[in-house]
Amino acid sequence: MMKFLYILCSLASCYAALNNKKFPADFMFGAATSSYQIEGAWNEDGKGENIWDYLLHTNRTYSLNGDNGDTTCNSYHNYKEDVALLKNLNVTHYRFSIAWARLLPNGHINEINEAGVEYYKNLISELRANNIEPFVTIYHWDLPQALQDEGGWPSSNIIDVYADYARLCFRLFGLDVKYWMTFNEPKQTCWQGYGVGTNAPGIKSPGIGEYWCAHNVLKAHAKAWHIYDEEFRPRQKGQVGIVIDSNWWEPATNSSEDQEASETKLQFTFGLYANPIFNGDYPEVMKSHIKRRSLAQGFQKSRLPEFTPKEIEYIKGTADFLGVNMYSASLVAAKQNQDVDGMGFDHDDEVKVWYSESWKKGASPWLVVTPWGMQKLLRWIKNQYNNPRMIVTENGYSDYDGTLNDDDRISYIQGYLSGVRDAMVEDGVNVFGYTVWSLLDNLEWVYGFTNKFGLYHVDFNSPNRTRTAKKSVGFYQNVIRTKCLVDECIEI
Ligand code: NOJ
Repeated sequence: MMKFLYILCSLASCYAALNNKKFPADFMFGAATSSYQIEGAWNEDGKGENIWDYLLHTNRTYSLNGDNGDTTCNSYHNYKEDVALLKNLNVTHYRFSIAWARLLPNGHINEINEAGVEYYKNLISELRANNIEPFVTIYHWDLPQALQDEGGWPSSNIIDVYADYARLCFRLFGLDVKYWMTFNEPKQTCWQGYGVGTNAPGIKSPGIGEYWCAHNVLKAHAKAWHIYDEEFRPRQKGQVGIVIDSNWWEPATNSSEDQEASETKLQFTFGLYANPIFNGDYPEVMKSHIKRRSLAQGFQKSRLPEFTPKEIEYIKGTADFLGVNMYSASLVAAKQNQDVDGMGFDHDDEVKVWYSESWKKGASPWLVVTPWGMQKLLRWIKNQYNNPRMIVTENGYSDYDGTLNDDDRISYIQGYLSGVRDAMVEDGVNVFGYTVWSLLDNLEWVYGFTNKFGLYHVDFNSPNRTRTAKKSVGFYQNVIRTKCLVDECIEI
């Protein structure tokens, strides 16, 4: 009974009134995409093959309907139109990513593809000409296949290779780019890519490869930040951050076990990447759980690699801002029967996770409409990491049909933005912007074209991939113009 009441209670805040305080005049409102999901032109003008090209070409059952990013929105050719759509929205910034294999076809610095350089230079200058700030993700999951063949993220060789690539990005585009993100959602790169294998390169190494990957990603991130700091910041005066994603993990009851399960899950999802960067080293709860389980499983030492004291110092403090991707909440409880055999971070945490049946769902199986989780997650981050400068780098709603009358998307965005504003006003969380996912309907990875997140509809059957504004475009334009989520706002 207690449990039931508590869930109802946390659901009630779902319908809390929308925040009526105006966003600050300089609050940034933007839209996001990523290279593989929108560019197409997968083998044009010298672009190399990446792990998604390879996986979805060689295994047609990996994605729904065998969909892939060969052409997708064709933004490689339609980028001017995309910028016009952004202009129409009146966004302050556009978050997009650079396709590593378009710049460096074999991943290494020795062979630069000039057509790729040209493409991103053109895109950036088109954005600048329209007064739109480029927010550039250096790595959004599309590793050159050649580097995967050399071991990919679980191999420590990748750290210097990534650093060369990041340096090249700063050198080529840094005079016009002031906001860089080293990695998008490293958790998905490592856990889905090298743990459970549901994303490219599709390797199943739960509890081992996924931690080696995380270890190298963190070192590569830190190296890129130091390169920027020493070689580019004095002249380019930009900022380098990272984008980390997490659900809000709501304790299923107010028992101390479930509260603790929530904290543990936050540390395993968010803290794995954020703690080394903001506080130094992996979270204690991860170190202790994984070590205990590894020894019980017969390993000589923890499956979670260790940082040396020097590495801890090198990684700590390497984010000028923090990007947060947040879409859903989950309920969590302590696992009653802890099976010590289970491998993988979702076993090592010893937390049980599920969605309430009563929560409204989007098209994506992991997407539930829980706007109240936004404020809770942002507040938790503030308290954990000493209130870093934050921007919501992704948040958005998927449907199946891509309807132009996307009222569900509008109320989703409105609710979550309200949570962002609540966190700012009530908790003093330092958020300077919000970026909706996504500008366009696009290739939703293994879900293909079945999960549509765009504010603009894309007709994937038309040769020029015709874009059409959905109702949410008008809604977002209005929010950007008024800085307000309701009919009338209070200035504070
Ligand atoms: C996470 C990823 O960054 C993005 O690529 C993806 O399409 C959206 N969120 C929605 O799943």
